[in-house]
Amino acid sequence: MNDWNLSVEQAVEFIEWCIERGITTFDHADIYGGDHRNEALFGEALKLEPSLREKIEIVTKCAISVPNARNPHIKTRFFNTDKEYILTQVNDSLDKLQCGYIDILLIHMFDLLIDPRELNETLLQLQSEGKVKYFGLSNHSPLEFDTLQKYSDINFVTHQFMLNPLGIQNYQNGTMTHCLKEGISPMIWSPLAGGRIFKPTSAVEENMHNVLEAIRQEQGLEHLDEVIYKWIFKHSSNPVIVLGTGNKERIERAIKSAEGPELTKEQWYKILVEAGYTLW
Ligand SMILES: NC(=O)c1ccc[n+]([C@@H]2O[C@H](COP(=O)([O-])OP(=O)(O)OC[C@H]3O[C@@H](n4cnc5c(N)ncnc54)[C@H](OP(=O)(O)O)[C@@H]3O)[C@@H](O)[C@H]2O)c1
Repeated sequence: MNDWNLSVEQAVEFIEWCIERGITTFDHADIYGGDHRNEALFGEALKLEPSLREKIEIVTKCAISVPNARNPHIKTRFFNTDKEYILTQVNDSLDKLQCGYIDILLIHMFDLLIDPRELNETLLQLQSEGKVKYFGLSNHSPLEFDTLQKYSDINFVTHQFMLNPLGIQNYQNGTMTHCLKEGISPMIWSPLAGGRIFKPTSAVEENMHNVLEAIRQEQGLEHLDEVIYKWIFKHSSNPVIVLGTGNKERIERAIKSAEGPELTKEQWYKILVEAGYTLW
């Protein structure tokens, strides 16, 4: 949100506009905007219009330590799931968001040095204190997910990871199938490859652009983004997309993509194979 240069009043207006259209979940992380800055702008909007809080769900993340002015002792990025660190990050997020609870807290990346029993204690404490309602993971492999779940008394309710026609590794490594197995709706970040798909700069990107354009014409859709969203939505795990745009026209199109005819199986597989998936 900070990148969109919104005033607090404009942020309130944007959140209300989203709620009116059924978009009620807002995705944050302690590191977005640098050291809780995105959360702070959102928190200012909640302070200006407190009635918004009960109408929305706030997702935020922790577990990536990055060098910043508040932590001058940190010189190198690393993943940190120590109890003390997570509790500090969550308290800071609540402080910046100016609200009493987070709806879903995600562990942002898999910490190879994690003590899963300690994580379990941390999450139970956050839940019993009423600071976090639900928990999930982000960017974990199926094995990493299952390992943390095995030690956790709390069921992870979602898994957030990247998927787009320029990045299908989460089909190749079984993460999408794992969501289906676990009955989890994945939250898909970078559904449009951060916009790269619209401005191809390599032969691979150019080819995918052409494939998507051909399917757009077959389906009579207005824009390529609708083809991509429909491709993501078609999986039986019931994925949701985490939009990266603040452009209202583009957001309206994303909403529209959830309705109307789906891609055919043949169109869906065409995109997957052109993205580099080997069928046999
Ligand atoms: N869990 C994680 O590790 C993780 C990592 C990365 C991101 N995320 C989350 O996922 C969200 C979305 O990721 P993302 O920003 O990479 O999503 P994205 O939707 O793939 O990319 C958004 C970018 O695409 C551009 N774009 C959208 N529609 C376009 C169009 N029709 N033509 C040209 N450009 C277009 C947008 O520009 P405009 O703004 O001008 O529309 C924006 O710069 C993030 O905001 C964050 O909340 C999570």
